[in-house]
Amino acid sequence: MNHPDNTTNDKWIVTTALCRHYKRGQHVVRAVDGIDLTIGRGDFLAVVGASGSGKSTLLNLLAGLDTPTSGHIQVGGQRLDELNRRKLSEYRAKKVGMVFQSFNLLPQFTALKNVELALYFNDTPRGERRRRARDILDRIGLGDRHDHRPADLSGGEQQRVAIARALIKQPEILFADEPTGNLDQQNAESILEVLGELHREGLTVILVSHDVDMARNAAGRVVKMQYGQVAEDDRQPKT
Ligand SMILES: Nc1ncnc2c1ncn2[C@@H]1O[C@H](COP(=O)(O)OP(=O)(O)OP(=O)(O)O)[C@@H](O)[C@H]1O
Ligand SMILES: [Mg+2]
Repeated sequence: MNHPDNTTNDKWIVTTALCRHYKRGQHVVRAVDGIDLTIGRGDFLAVVGASGSGKSTLLNLLAGLDTPTSGHIQVGGQRLDELNRRKLSEYRAKKVGMVFQSFNLLPQFTALKNVELALYFNDTPRGERRRRARDILDRIGLGDRHDHRPADLSGGEQQRVAIARALIKQPEILFADEPTGNLDQQNAESILEVLGELHREGLTVILVSHDVDMARNAAGRVVKMQYGQVAEDDRQPKT
């Protein structure tokens, strides 16, 4: 972002005493509760933990979709809370790609159109949008599915379209919140393979998963959350 020189690639994303608390009448839900995390450029990080441990909340904070109640996040040396509204929406729109458990595709449109539409508000000319959508679907193994509507795709294929839709913006970070949660084992594995490939090509990937074994297989680092905090942080050399 703005100050690439005062940050190193292994401290690309840095959270400092990051908190997201919700006030619920008398008591406070500490969804994220004091997280200090450093993520390197090009890392493949998996966030695991029980339901309610704060995984999605953390992801949404990192993606700039939610605002901390205290603490802060730096990306490339730039604090997100110091960005003005235009810069923050630029961060969300251009730097960050999001993939969710429910693919959130538009049912009336083809795969190609679903991917292309992600560039609709990015001032990309129509021909260029279409060309990039085609390229990316081909690359992600859906070369022969451009004209299929979501209902005529398998779950794994729909998730690939959702990944393509995130990638067409050429993000620097791909966030995936339980992207395999609605998939059978075989489709889940193929989606994790896609994420691994993107990581090998240099993309920073942050994956949320319930499944610790799956996360271990996919990612080089597994952060386990518990009650809004980091309970374990395992880095392992990839085999
Ligand atoms: N808008 C909200 N208001 C109050 N509490 C909330 C809100 N959103 C989330 N929470 C609470 O914050 C905690 C963390 O939620 P979060 O969605 O981050 O968990 P998670 O780890 O993603 O769980 P899951 O694996 O079920 O998706 C939960 O206890 C949840 O009930
Ligand atoms: Mg969640």
